[in-house]
Amino acid sequence: MVGRRVGIVGAGMVGATAAYSLVMTGTCHQVILYDIATDVAKGKAIDIGQSACYSLKGTVVEAAEEISGLKNCDIVVITAGVPRRGDMTRADLLMINAGIMKDIVEGIKTYSPNAIILCVSNPLDVMTYVIQKLTGWDRQRVIGMAGALDGARMAYQIQQKVGYGSGQTRAMILGEHGQHMIPYPEISAVGGVPLEQLVTKKDMEHIIARTKEGGAEIVKYLGTSAYYAPGRSVSVMVEAILNDSRIVMPSSVVLEGEYGYQDVAVGVPIVLGAKGVQEVIELALDNEMKKQFSASVDAIRENIEVLHVKGFFD
Ligand code: 2OP
Repeated sequence: MVGRRVGIVGAGMVGATAAYSLVMTGTCHQVILYDIATDVAKGKAIDIGQSACYSLKGTVVEAAEEISGLKNCDIVVITAGVPRRGDMTRADLLMINAGIMKDIVEGIKTYSPNAIILCVSNPLDVMTYVIQKLTGWDRQRVIGMAGALDGARMAYQIQQKVGYGSGQTRAMILGEHGQHMIPYPEISAVGGVPLEQLVTKKDMEHIIARTKEGGAEIVKYLGTSAYYAPGRSVSVMVEAILNDSRIVMPSSVVLEGEYGYQDVAVGVPIVLGAKGVQEVIELALDNEMKKQFSASVDAIRENIEVLHVKGFFD
């Protein structure tokens, strides 16, 4: 869409692949890459910018040397953060990444005050919560990208199992982007045919287990996190926002009473459009699902609590 500008914070593999995907699909007019490693942002912006010579819309790609370069963006995608290393505890990692969010959010509030933020940084739900708190923005403008990716991973596993339906499979995932994610086969379908009618219970269990391990499996092979599916998942969400497509997409948002919770960000189906979260869809969960959802919320809250105890929000 002409005139639309997307900023990407973090020019690592996920940020750069998201940029490349945006350029290839011609989703926006301009992509600006920002990274504290300025040379990385510059090098990748040039490379991706040159790829735009053969893209649909000739999207302009630039690097920003300072966060002030992310000016008047319609959407800012945050992929920054560090992975856990050496003797770092989970709490240390949480504090470090939350601290990184603090700096970034200050910049976005100043230079792109009307943006919608898509969070991709991990731990995803906690960082989405942190960003919403730090911006003080309406929750509809702060969205965590998780269900799009986890849903694609589940769709992939379904297709591997049934052997057809590529591109037609829709899988729903609720809850945490992590150990407590909740694949929801009962409302997943291949070409509209309910999954339950296509696979056995045992197959379903296999699909669920493989989906949950989806991220870890790639780390095992590559020694680093995934980026193609995350990058494309970002661009599909950006597309929905800029085109006001109002697609249903499981995403992490701060709940305000839905599902019986508030003051926590967790994956739920939302309607994604020009305003960001147009609506949160409240599914009627059975008791088993409620239990899983509650475990998911507890896991996320435990991490939020760590930040409170360490004085992050003071
Ligand atoms: C993934 O699931 C690490 O969140 C990233 O691949």
